[in-house]
Amino acid sequence: MSRSTKKAAASGTSSDEILRKDSKYIAHGGGRTPIVFVEAKGSIVTDANGKEYIDCVSMGMGTSGVGHSHPRVVEAIREQAGKIIHTHLSTVNIPSVELGEKLARITPHGLNKFHFVNSGTDANETAIRAAMTYTKKKEVLSLELGYHGTTIALSSLGMSYSRHAYPTVPGFRQLPPPYCYRCPLGLDFPRCDVACANLLDDAIKYATSHDVAAFILEPIMGAAGHIVPPGKEYAKIIRETCDRHDILIIADEIQTGLGRTGTMWASDYIGLKPDIMTLGKGLGGGMPIGAAVFSEEVGSMLQKGTWAHGYTHSESPMSCAAAGAVVDIVVDEKLPERSARLGAIATKIFKQWQSKYEAIGDVRGPGLFIGLELVKNKITKERATEEATKIAAEALEMGGIFSTSHGASQQPGGNVVKFKPPMTIEEDLMKKGIDILDDAFTRVLGGAT
Ligand SMILES: Cc1ncc(COP(=O)(O)O)c(C=O)c1O
Repeated sequence: MSRSTKKAAASGTSSDEILRKDSKYIAHGGGRTPIVFVEAKGSIVTDANGKEYIDCVSMGMGTSGVGHSHPRVVEAIREQAGKIIHTHLSTVNIPSVELGEKLARITPHGLNKFHFVNSGTDANETAIRAAMTYTKKKEVLSLELGYHGTTIALSSLGMSYSRHAYPTVPGFRQLPPPYCYRCPLGLDFPRCDVACANLLDDAIKYATSHDVAAFILEPIMGAAGHIVPPGKEYAKIIRETCDRHDILIIADEIQTGLGRTGTMWASDYIGLKPDIMTLGKGLGGGMPIGAAVFSEEVGSMLQKGTWAHGYTHSESPMSCAAAGAVVDIVVDEKLPERSARLGAIATKIFKQWQSKYEAIGDVRGPGLFIGLELVKNKITKERATEEATKIAAEALEMGGIFSTSHGASQQPGGNVVKFKPPMTIEEDLMKKGIDILDDAFTRVLGGAT
């Protein structure tokens, strides 16, 4: 038990006491796991009772991609806090300029102008407003089962569970996702001729008011359970169709960016050339930040125009300083390559499990962005949602943090167990995490089947 954990226990701030106060004082927005984390280093997280866990999901959806409290991130935050913590966004601060310069070295296809905000949601709002301003059009397309944030506008573009209680924005419309394991069109790749991409043209022609500013998509769909489009043809058709209709493509790389998929960007992996990219989560190394990334042309147009957009904490010097350190770590520690190497090892093990556990219907996702889709029956593909939830709970009890795809209660889903540890995780520790998951599978599914 570390010093601060011992102190928490000694001062009576045990998990139970904190949990009691949490339910009394904190109004949170969703299901809560009754656990209080007080410390984290690298890929190990400690709770208020001194129990240690291997973080196999980078604290949620990849937010701790470079590991918890990476020394270079901690140092950058400490140094910046001693200089200036906040500046107004109508002025200029050094960490945001330096972050832009560093990111411009690794962002693709001439996307080299950055608008820094507070979260992934803010980044997507920014991107959509920018696309509308640039194209002077107002409709937006997205993919069913996608997830882009929980404002009213972004809920309209995302999974149904995030919008069930709210109005949807007129002109925002969703299309079937490239979910080959459960093709929404009932087809099989490659005989389908990538119908899910080809129907975009008809959707634009017949189901919109020909006023579409943007098509926003996750190049690999994270919250839905790591859905990977089939082949590069998908991205090619989407690009050509959007070009024909003067529609900008926004690639939401909030979960997938900065090496997670074994390439720097998931857009590279699927061969997509976006017009705008959005970043968040792992970019801040744990600090809140999001970024909309524009081409020179779109970025300059916005700079010159009357584009009123921004938040009090946009371009936070603290978050930008932390993010600058993250970009350095991703480049210096060659994290895309590391993610590809470790991901291949983990994927090989999970694929072997398919003959051991009948419930594993699909194993997918490049790099350290892996999803194991569980089914009750491989022919009917009935979702094994309860089992997946139980597996994550058992693993947590045994000291491994895992999560499942969104939608367990509100819509079909929740049956994909996710594996996306920090890209800096040591190989042995990663294997220990996988062993815990193996034990959890055995406990829930009753051993080799
Ligand atoms: C793909 C994707 N886009 C956008 C968001 C929203 O980001 P945030 O929660 O930081 O606002 C998320 C969050 O899970 C996400 O996974």
